Amino acid sequence: MIEKQEFDKLPKTPVGHGARKKAYEGTTVTGRSFRDYEDMFGFSKKELKGKTVLDIGSSVNERFSQEARESGINVVSLNPDMSYWKARSKMKDFLKLKEPQRSVAGVVQELPFGDESFDIEVSAFAVPYYLLGHEQEYRRAIQEVIRTLKPGGKAYFYPIHASLYKSRSFSKILDDYSEYIDRSFELIEKDMDGADTYRLTITKKIGERVMNE
Ligand SMILES: C[S@@+](CC[C@H](N)C(=O)[O-])C[C@H]1O[C@@H](n2cnc3c(N)ncnc32)[C@H](O)[C@@H]1O
Repeated sequence: MIEKQEFDKLPKTPVGHGARKKAYEGTTVTGRSFRDYEDMFGFSKKELKGKTVLDIGSSVNERFSQEARESGINVVSLNPDMSYWKARSKMKDFLKLKEPQRSVAGVVQELPFGDESFDIEVSAFAVPYYLLGHEQEYRRAIQEVIRTLKPGGKAYFYPIHASLYKSRSFSKILDDYSEYIDRSFELIEKDMDGADTYRLTITKKIGERVMNE
């Protein structure tokens, strides 16, 4: 569980190197609203009240967490982008940022949080969207999400492209953790190229099992 006073102790310096660093730098600056997240993930403000939420790859303006806080919902934003802090201060006026930056630096493959920290984790157009297409990157991401979710907690990912949805190796990763999670895919829409895109929801099972890598 992340207490407010602990938030300041979390790393604020950017991380990433090599091919991963390149992948992070290739991501675009966006700022989807709370409403956009509700539509994408199929949850409502009411369901998030009183929950601790992680927004994996929030982008520079941290809009989801800002709008959530206005409704009394506690969201921690996570960003790896090497140029994130510079970009944010440059765009402060343009983006009409009201609050100081609150993002924690980190990547989904090595989440800088303790076990069972979050009730809900979301990732919109970030993970697995921008992960390098290596099996190990997907596996680490899923492991870290499971580790940091509370029992009964949920993680939502959008979009999952048809190719990943159909990929045997991605299905196998999810199968390998079926002792710890339930998962479901919902078909949401077609992308600009006409390919199906899905939402993946992972629910961590309630139980005493400890995950071994
Ligand atoms: C296109 S933006 C999406 C921002 C926001 N979620 C939205 O929908 O408006 C992608 C974000 O994913 C982050 N990102 C890319 N790879 C990541 C990783 N491995 N772990 C965490 N965040 C990542 C980028 O730094 C960027 O903030």
